Amino acid sequence: MVNKQFPPDFLWGVSTSAYQIEGAWNEEGKGESIWDRYSHQPNHILNNGNGDIACDHYHSMPQDVALLKELGVKSYRFSVSWSRVLPLGFGEKNQKGLDFYKKLVDELLSVNIKPFITLYHWDLPQALQDRGGWVNRDTVSHFTDYANLIFSSLADRVDMWATHNEPRVVSFIGYGNATMAPGIADFSKSYQVTHHLLLAHGSTVQEYRKNGYHGDIGIVLDSEHSFPASFHPEDLLAWQRYYEQDTGIFTDALFLGKYPDLLMNWIGPMQPEIKPGDMEIIREPIDFLGINYYRGMEVSFHQTGGYLKCKTRHETLPMWGYTEMGWGIHPKGLLMVLKNLKERYGDIPLVISESGCATRDIGDEAGYVDDQERIDYLRMHFESGWHAIQSGINLKGYYVWSLMDNFEWSQGYSPRFGLVRVNYDSLGRIPKKSFYWYQNVISKNGF
Ligand code: FCB
Repeated sequence: MVNKQFPPDFLWGVSTSAYQIEGAWNEEGKGESIWDRYSHQPNHILNNGNGDIACDHYHSMPQDVALLKELGVKSYRFSVSWSRVLPLGFGEKNQKGLDFYKKLVDELLSVNIKPFITLYHWDLPQALQDRGGWVNRDTVSHFTDYANLIFSSLADRVDMWATHNEPRVVSFIGYGNATMAPGIADFSKSYQVTHHLLLAHGSTVQEYRKNGYHGDIGIVLDSEHSFPASFHPEDLLAWQRYYEQDTGIFTDALFLGKYPDLLMNWIGPMQPEIKPGDMEIIREPIDFLGINYYRGMEVSFHQTGGYLKCKTRHETLPMWGYTEMGWGIHPKGLLMVLKNLKERYGDIPLVISESGCATRDIGDEAGYVDDQERIDYLRMHFESGWHAIQSGINLKGYYVWSLMDNFEWSQGYSPRFGLVRVNYDSLGRIPKKSFYWYQNVISKNGF
């Protein structure tokens, strides 16, 4: 029996990203990206892993689409590798790279799966990084040109687009924390990077509209469920700074056309340079907002908590626990994140563009994984999605991260997020128990 039924056109999907699955890092004309460069340097990635081969999706794409078909998803979210189609990030295009994505789209459409393309999932062409990367305002127009190239090749058959995936990670972890590419430990650059990422987003949305494409275009942000550790004013303010850096800096710019005052005053001279007209471009209306949701986070004031003076603690309850990433499982937080967005910015169509967990995932002799923990995690989070819909939130779809185990950035191949197990020696794929559970949810459109 199905207790929790979803709307008839609900988009059940899975997500991946180019660098995490494709491999073929230097094949058929692909240029170097910042993730190639970063992961080839020692001690950046756990066990010195890299995405040179990853899941070898570039060579096994049809087999992976067959898995998607078997799973029964309505939609598949993937990203395009910018340096695969434009090896230097601008100028000469690489037709073979473009052909790969055309073939992928054709395969998906032939089995009735709606492609959802992310234009930028963190893998800037290295040649653009060498010219200053996202600190350089020229990268904005290079991105818009790249987007136009992809639109002109695919927008006749693809009608769901995200400009960026989680720009926060680029701004504050690629820069600032520097535990991701390009690994530049300088927070004073983070805000200019944020501004340029958002400007690239806005000008791409404008191009999409100007060229008369009729699909939906939006952006994907990550949002934790964060909250203050106490009602003490210092904790409340620390939380507000944290929230504004985590989410508000992006959402206020996108929907209100301004950066949050409290954070801007706090960072003082690190504020970005904004040219006249920029905020109007950033505020160009979008068709949907994608939210990647993984965890709960408690925030308190702390003198030694960096320049934001915030201390964080992964928040969960004993009955939920932590994932293999050490992330606090907090299914109700998802509902709160969605409610908060609606309260602040109105009735924007929302999509959960990523949600999932890394679990211990030990395979049996045949490689089959009984990942009941993942099923429990997904069920509880789907439940929050269902409650969101019941309470009038305009939630259009839910994409599980991820189709298959893959290269988890600085953590390498250690965390396994997939519904499908990947054997990294043979590159074989074996669906886990959660794959069949999700297949059943999709076929019943509920659970
Ligand atoms: C998100 C990323 C995605 C993946 C998951 C686990 O922040 O968008 O690429 O790494 O986390």
